[in-house]
Amino acid sequence: MEPKKQTIIIVLVAVLATAGIAVGVTYVLVAPPPGTEAEVDALEIYHWWTSGGEAAAITALIDEFETLYPDTTVQEVQIAGGGGFEMRVKIKTLMLAGQPPDTFQIHNGYEWTIFYDANLLDNIDHIWTTALKAAVPDVVEDISKGPDGHYYAVPVNIHRSNVLWYNAKVLQYNGINPASLTSWPAFWAACDTLIANGTSGITKPVAMGEQWTTAHAFEQVLASVGIDTYEAWINGEIDSGSATHYADLLTACEIYDNLTDYINTDWAGLSWDGAIADLISGDAAFSIMGDWANGEFYQAGWVHGVDYGTIGVPGTGNMYGLVVDCFEKPKNILHPTAVDNWLGVVASKDGQDAFNPLKGSISARTDADTGKYGAYQQSALADFSAVTYMFPSVVHGSGAPEAFNTDLSPLIGALTSGTAASTTALAIAALAATYASDFIKTWSL
Ligand code: BGC
Repeated sequence: MEPKKQTIIIVLVAVLATAGIAVGVTYVLVAPPPGTEAEVDALEIYHWWTSGGEAAAITALIDEFETLYPDTTVQEVQIAGGGGFEMRVKIKTLMLAGQPPDTFQIHNGYEWTIFYDANLLDNIDHIWTTALKAAVPDVVEDISKGPDGHYYAVPVNIHRSNVLWYNAKVLQYNGINPASLTSWPAFWAACDTLIANGTSGITKPVAMGEQWTTAHAFEQVLASVGIDTYEAWINGEIDSGSATHYADLLTACEIYDNLTDYINTDWAGLSWDGAIADLISGDAAFSIMGDWANGEFYQAGWVHGVDYGTIGVPGTGNMYGLVVDCFEKPKNILHPTAVDNWLGVVASKDGQDAFNPLKGSISARTDADTGKYGAYQQSALADFSAVTYMFPSVVHGSGAPEAFNTDLSPLIGALTSGTAASTTALAIAALAATYASDFIKTWSL
């Protein structure tokens, strides 16, 4: 139990005890049902944003809230671990034990379905005003709704998953034109050049981090094989070695296998921001990472287009991989009014324009003040309106069932450690069969 919650409960018990003595009755001390006691003006927010860029962004959002609601005491509960893999375990435990946090970060869509199915989320239709509906792109609005058509999530951003980050000075020094890296063969050639030149001291050109970042990279490789394949994958249709598109899944595993020849040997123990730090230090030249990486370059004072640059992951230039962070309002929480206020700030133009310029994402609202966003995000904004395809991330909770995603990461971790591509492809297909009944959405990308 968190310290602040404990304090609040102690206060409530003291009030009941005093009331009992005053009227001279014998009573059984039973806490009133949630929502019937006077609400203490406090707010507990769970999130996993602990890297330099992430922390700066959530601080800016909370500052925005505190300016509007100065009497509310905010308690942040930060659970480190990129991609939220650690925090989700904790949230599940709390929610299923009937101790819901006031509000928590999660990825929009499939990832919160488990709580929706267990009837643990409050409908937040009142946050989704006509103005908000008009401002949020349909693809993001849709995944904020439950199967009953009501809203259960408030998006705070839109991250792009399929970004290849590069150290611009290293590439320039080695005569590599990043704009030419639009196919995997071109990318392998660039990596081989860097190694062969030896002048930058780079032996492993691609910075990779811990297991979930391997799954992240794999997902982009799979998209590069073709949007039809990706669509079949997130519809749960690549469920056996004889399924249509199975050959493409195998190709993706083989491409990924090739990629592992170029990654750092210490990947398994490196956080995602540790991988980006390797790119910044010049130990590596590339990284495949979502655009939360931009927050780290920003914190390092690096200038997009000068010190570092970005292109789509080879083969995905006309695609935008969607990663959407959102906040929830569980049922039976201690501070429902404060949560409504918080969700209002999360949904607001000002809140999003305080948060996203530091986070690396673009606003989940089309009416953002784009002047507040830096050079990388200007390119992301332009791409968001120009790309041919959007694809929802599986690794970041929107594209496919959560259990499928949870089991996918170790398979890609094993592929990274040397398991054969053919074994991995079959195992991924078997996962789709195992969780067949959880695939409740049919995507048309
Ligand atoms: C989240 C980002 C976060 C990243 C690394 C992603 O799953 O959507 O907001 O910055 O993980 O922690």
